[in-house]
Amino acid sequence: MRDLGVSRRDFLKGVGAAAAAVALPLNLIELAFADPAQNFMFAYISDAHIQHIKGGKFVRNWDRGLIRAVAETNLLEPKPDFVMFGGDLAQLGTKAELDHGAEIMSALKYKTYYVMGEHDYYLDLGEYWSKLFGPQWYSFDHKGVHFVVLNSILTFDDWTHKRWPTAEQRMLEMAGLDNPNGSPFMVGEKQREWLAADLAKVDRKTPVVVFSHSPIQKLYKGWNFWTEDAEEVQALLQPFEQPTVVYGHVHQIQYNQIGNITFHAVMATAWPWPYPQSYAQADHAMPKQMVPMNRGDPFFERDATGWQTIDTGTGRVTMAYNLYNNRARKVRYNPATGRPEDLEFEDPAKRVPPQDHF
Ligand SMILES: [Fe+2]
Ligand SMILES: [Fe+2]
Repeated sequence: MRDLGVSRRDFLKGVGAAAAAVALPLNLIELAFADPAQNFMFAYISDAHIQHIKGGKFVRNWDRGLIRAVAETNLLEPKPDFVMFGGDLAQLGTKAELDHGAEIMSALKYKTYYVMGEHDYYLDLGEYWSKLFGPQWYSFDHKGVHFVVLNSILTFDDWTHKRWPTAEQRMLEMAGLDNPNGSPFMVGEKQREWLAADLAKVDRKTPVVVFSHSPIQKLYKGWNFWTEDAEEVQALLQPFEQPTVVYGHVHQIQYNQIGNITFHAVMATAWPWPYPQSYAQADHAMPKQMVPMNRGDPFFERDATGWQTIDTGTGRVTMAYNLYNNRARKVRYNPATGRPEDLEFEDPAKRVPPQDHF
């Protein structure tokens, strides 16, 4: 938002009112600075999972989620500077799915950046996706913020190249959420070397926002809410004063703090995943105080999908989640505790049943 004569607070109030009326399935992101002329925002759409049936037929629900997000993004006022797509555009990585998804996305009126998801990748190892969308990892600077996009869904070479008789089977094995034949995601050494060189050029005080598909954390291996080399990637980000990682893949609200790094997940336009029963598999599990999203009615078409505004006016991201069929949530960094918090939902007296801590 550039010098439009309204304060950030007024703007966010306006967005909240619009959200109450239409509940957009996208993520609106605002980066706000001490100098209002520097403020800007961008939109974030993720996890569309366009799924081909046959001929010109695609699964209607996933199509509709993305079409709606694109249409609503085009109607945003003030306009976002750009749009980020967070990965899993396709369900099984086929040309038909990627072409159809790209066609829907082409209706966007803004510069659009893309993150690779595992559902886009494991049929042809990203070949067709790259033809459509370009490099699988890259960085760019925008109005004083250094943005990094990673392909975090790579895995061991043996699993990728030697284990499966066909590319189709490899894709199906990785597409299952809880399939024991899957393999842990990773960024990989080559990309980590690139990231180290890229970040070496960036001042430690510069806000750094990293976009990945999988969480750059070890949350729940059984469902691949996991990045195998998360610690190595985190080590490259820790020297910065206020690094943030924003990721898709998990289709639910998550927030966490590891050292200097604040983590936030974004909503999907396709469907919500339930929460794993426990995140307590690793030292880096979600903080005990994190309150899961309320899954009020899993039979509602747009249950637990939604969008959020993101505001870094304090130097840390504040996520304001606007959820279909659910109360809005706000997760913000609290300098006193040094972690992101949802002050309302972390208060047991205010929480709406059946939500509870794990
Ligand atoms: Fe996904
Ligand atoms: Fe995914």
